[in-house]
Amino acid sequence: MESEDGWQLTERVRASTQSGRGDPFAAAVRATRMPMIITDPRRLDNPIVFANDAFLALTGYTRLEVTGRNCRFLQGPDTDLTEVARVRDAIAAERDIHAELLNYRKDGSTFHNALYVSPVHDEDGTLLFFFASQLDVSDRYALRDERDRVQAASDANALLLREVGHRARNDLQMISAMLVLQSGDSADPAVRDALAVAIGRIDALAALYRMPPGGDGGHDLAELAREVAETLVDASGRDDVTLDLDLAPVTIRADAAGPLALVLSEAVSHALRRAVPHRPVRLAVRLAGSDSGVVLRVEDERSSAWPEANGDGMALLDMLVRQLDGQRDLDRDPSGGLRMTFHFPAKRIGA
Ligand SMILES: Cc1cc2nc3c(=O)[nH]c(=O)nc-3n(C[C@H](O)[C@H](O)[C@H](O)COP(=O)(O)O)c2cc1C
Repeated sequence: MESEDGWQLTERVRASTQSGRGDPFAAAVRATRMPMIITDPRRLDNPIVFANDAFLALTGYTRLEVTGRNCRFLQGPDTDLTEVARVRDAIAAERDIHAELLNYRKDGSTFHNALYVSPVHDEDGTLLFFFASQLDVSDRYALRDERDRVQAASDANALLLREVGHRARNDLQMISAMLVLQSGDSADPAVRDALAVAIGRIDALAALYRMPPGGDGGHDLAELAREVAETLVDASGRDDVTLDLDLAPVTIRADAAGPLALVLSEAVSHALRRAVPHRPVRLAVRLAGSDSGVVLRVEDERSSAWPEANGDGMALLDMLVRQLDGQRDLDRDPSGGLRMTFHFPAKRIGA
């Protein structure tokens, strides 16, 4: 058989040279680029009795410097002692072991050593040698360190963003509160109306900062729409408003969230302002997303009047829609309610 022939050949060559130099297996171990060593556990402190060239290249020591020493000379101050203890226990129990140890070269530089140690027994089970291979896996650790650094930087950014958001929200709330006070001081209904519009816009922006930022800094437009609509209905002081929300989750870019919060606020406050006074109001906010974009619709019931092109906040609304490369349509549903429909392209607002 071929393998038997192979072994016979090996044994013959070994016998003929006594040194094992002619043995193709020994030659392969010597020549391989994988660092390898053999230790002799029958000698005091299990010293290295063979080290190949790849091991010497990896560690920077000469053969003379490593032969006769226990491998622990490769360890240093930052080597993980728990991992060393695992190796120690496996060696005492004559078991295979795989460990990853921080090792030090002769010049003091470090590398992460993926170490595989196996005991070699004879037919009677007597321990003869330990055989080990060492693989430099520092690249993998460098990648992991880089990933940890990026993660830490991104955590710090998220923290900063939260803090900035917190302050912005507080400032907006303070401005809104000041305007509410100012509005209370004024007897002029036109001034009070103008201030109410401004307060609504500020509250819409504050709603944005109340929301937790989504993954990758994106926002959920459905959450934003709910927050803005509910805030404005609350602020209207009317308890006869029914809010009907039909919102599919849509993730939008952080820089589109501000303009969209204002679009929502303009459309919802328009519907609230224009609703027939002293009659219960039903408002619907609908949001649907597709691959091509987002459709946002604000509907009211029996709205009394068609908005004026340049009044009623429509100029601001149209400016915001243009800024987001969107479109606005206005029509009436069969029951006479006003429908404001916005289309925004995914490539402009999508996260
Ligand atoms: C064959 C063999 C190869 C070893 N190679 C390494 C090595 O490359 N790096 C290392 O830190 N430890 C290596 N060790 C482990 C140490 O020699 C030693 O067993 C370990 O430090 C635990 O024992 P100690 O607590 O007495 O030091 C090897 C052990 C054996 C048996």
